[in-house]
Amino acid sequence: MKIVMITGSPHRHGTSALLADAFIQGAQEAGHTVFRFDAAFQELHPCRACERCHNTDKGCIYKDGMEELNPHLLEADLVAFASPIYYYDWSAQLKLAIDRFYANSTALRTPKKAVLLLTMEDDTMESAAGAVLSFQGMTNYLGWERVGVISALSCGDLAAMERTDYPQQAYELGKNLR
Ligand SMILES: Cc1cc2nc3c(=O)[nH]c(=O)nc-3n(C[C@H](O)[C@H](O)[C@H](O)COP(=O)(O)O)c2cc1C
Repeated sequence: MKIVMITGSPHRHGTSALLADAFIQGAQEAGHTVFRFDAAFQELHPCRACERCHNTDKGCIYKDGMEELNPHLLEADLVAFASPIYYYDWSAQLKLAIDRFYANSTALRTPKKAVLLLTMEDDTMESAAGAVLSFQGMTNYLGWERVGVISALSCGDLAAMERTDYPQQAYELGKNLR
């Protein structure tokens, strides 16, 4: 499978990066190819709803990091998202990239699988619920099959994460993809 992993944390080696790394390791060991896109380290503009992508054949007005991501996204068999929870949702860095799917909404509405990896400080699913709902809505709209969601509760920093088996869960999710 061709996998695209989009991460949303500004911490290169933070908790959500650890889950992303573990998932990627498992997926690569199982023979899948992975393209990783760290949204927080890309130059990305927020969608300005000019509709040029839909009303002309010129595509998105912005020439930025999405130009690198889009070909991989369109070809992907599975798209994975890894993000910290920021104020009860996935991070703005990730949201910004996802909003830019708008330019390719029609082309992206093809069968794909999808995975969501979340990390957060809180110990209840209330913090994760917004992101999980967004993921459900987005994948329903795009017609993508959800094959795994990991919500790493009580994982506000790496030390906390390393006391859990969430990285192992992410590894196994990647390793056992079908
Ligand atoms: C701006 C901001 C908002 C946050 N909001 C929440 C929140 O609503 N719920 C929660 O449980 N943790 C919240 N956190 C904590 C992070 O989700 C947590 O520290 C996470 O492990 C960071 O992931 P990272 O290491 O991949 O960057 C917030 C952190 C920041 C910086």
